[in-house]
Amino acid sequence: AAKRTDGLLVGAVDQGTSSTRFLVFDSKTAELLCHHQVEIEQEFPKEGWVEENPKEILQSVYECVEKGCEKLQELNIDIASIKAIGISNQRETTVVWDKLTGEPLYNALVWLDLRTQSTVESLSKRIPGNNNFVKAKTGLPLSTYFSAVKVRWLLDNVPGVRQAAEEGRALFGTVDSWLIWNLTGGAEGGVHCTDVTNASRTMLFNIHSLQWDKELCEFFGVPMSILPNVRSCSEIYGLMRRGTLGGVPISGCLGDQSAALVGQMCFQDGQAKNTYGTGCFLLCNTGSKCVFSEHGLLTTVGYKLGRDKPVCYALEGSVAIAGALVRWLRDNLGIIKSMEEMEKLAKEVGTSYGCYFVPAFSGLYAPYWDPSARGIICGLTQFTNKSHLAFAALEAVCFQTREILDAMNRDCGIPLSHLQVDGGMTNNKVLMQLQADILCIPVVKPTMPEITALGAAIAAGTAEGVGVWSLDPAKLSSFIMERFEPQINAEESEVRYSVWKKAVRKSMGWATT
Ligand code: G3P
Repeated sequence: AAKRTDGLLVGAVDQGTSSTRFLVFDSKTAELLCHHQVEIEQEFPKEGWVEENPKEILQSVYECVEKGCEKLQELNIDIASIKAIGISNQRETTVVWDKLTGEPLYNALVWLDLRTQSTVESLSKRIPGNNNFVKAKTGLPLSTYFSAVKVRWLLDNVPGVRQAAEEGRALFGTVDSWLIWNLTGGAEGGVHCTDVTNASRTMLFNIHSLQWDKELCEFFGVPMSILPNVRSCSEIYGLMRRGTLGGVPISGCLGDQSAALVGQMCFQDGQAKNTYGTGCFLLCNTGSKCVFSEHGLLTTVGYKLGRDKPVCYALEGSVAIAGALVRWLRDNLGIIKSMEEMEKLAKEVGTSYGCYFVPAFSGLYAPYWDPSARGIICGLTQFTNKSHLAFAALEAVCFQTREILDAMNRDCGIPLSHLQVDGGMTNNKVLMQLQADILCIPVVKPTMPEITALGAAIAAGTAEGVGVWSLDPAKLSSFIMERFEPQINAEESEVRYSVWKKAVRKSMGWATT
């Protein structure tokens, strides 16, 4: 028998750093009907370099869409019920391609990549101490994390890129732009656009005027001619050109952390969410106000759900390494096979036995912004085994979250009473309990973990000309929430946190000593 739906479905592509997913939601109930996931290969050609193949990313999207549609058909649901597609994506990751051939001119430089450190150092000398115009205009610290310096590296170091830019053949995009351009036709009329949330992560975008900024483009040496058009997060950008969903509008686009903010229905000033993906990102909605942090957080565009809708800003605490640590323990050390095994090992010991793990693989992001920090494991004894390491790794994710939550509370003045969480790692109950213990506040998660994709689906489904979804926050109440209460006392938590801080101090400045 056909599964009952009201016939209006929305698809979401969630293109993250570690994997691509395609998911289909019922627009009335927000029920997740089916999904397909493909892991993305990461390349580390040199120490500190992180690349992905843009064609593999695109192929993974096609594969997920086709396999996802097959799964929908297995449920006896008509594929024609999918009325719109939303896209959420890893942010900052930079692609430059040739618009005539459709070929990428180099691999994608992933947000975690550190090769631009010397560029950042020399550029920062040109910013007057009393007039940090980059921060004032973009809300961001000058860092290897953001796209502008990555584009500059490609222009300066990859043969042919500068020439292609001068000849008007090169296009730049974050992953959303690369995907939308290809999905809407590529070299045969693909749409070159991005949305305000992704644009706000480039260091080239003025978050007040919501436009590319000439002064910033000149400062970073990026020609404005290669930049995509900036649109809202919810409008029809174009139609899928090929495949089973050919003809369906792409009508939602947000950086994945903004998508999660929408998916968690954090539409009110002061509402916050923390997403555990490859990295870990805590975003707090600050409404129409651009709040500038005094404690190492970023100011970023939260969302703008329609051409004529207001922009909402967010304060963000960014942690570079969360789920990436699990993958590192699996691929580089080979001591676990999966997240499930890691959870089991950590649960068996229930302690790190004094072992602390600071995963500063790409330096430290918020609140420290120290590109010279490097990962350390300390407190080892002959007693330490891989289960303790697994526990220390989970604890590291929780301590890093505590650091950004503390910064957020200081900036906002009103401490969060609980933490709303989502993302793949939140299936790990040991992690969730540890997080509540280390924060000393309850941690609350929806049992439907695909919140980022849901945000993209909401943006797509509510777009003008699509209109199959109503923005009713009560919809989330149909989700079952799981709650983790702190189980250790605050003093014990403080002691552990202070040892973590000591370990962080040891990791800082490492690459310069
Ligand atoms: O800023 C990077 C972020 O967007 C990556 O997200 O989900 O791949 O950890 P994720």
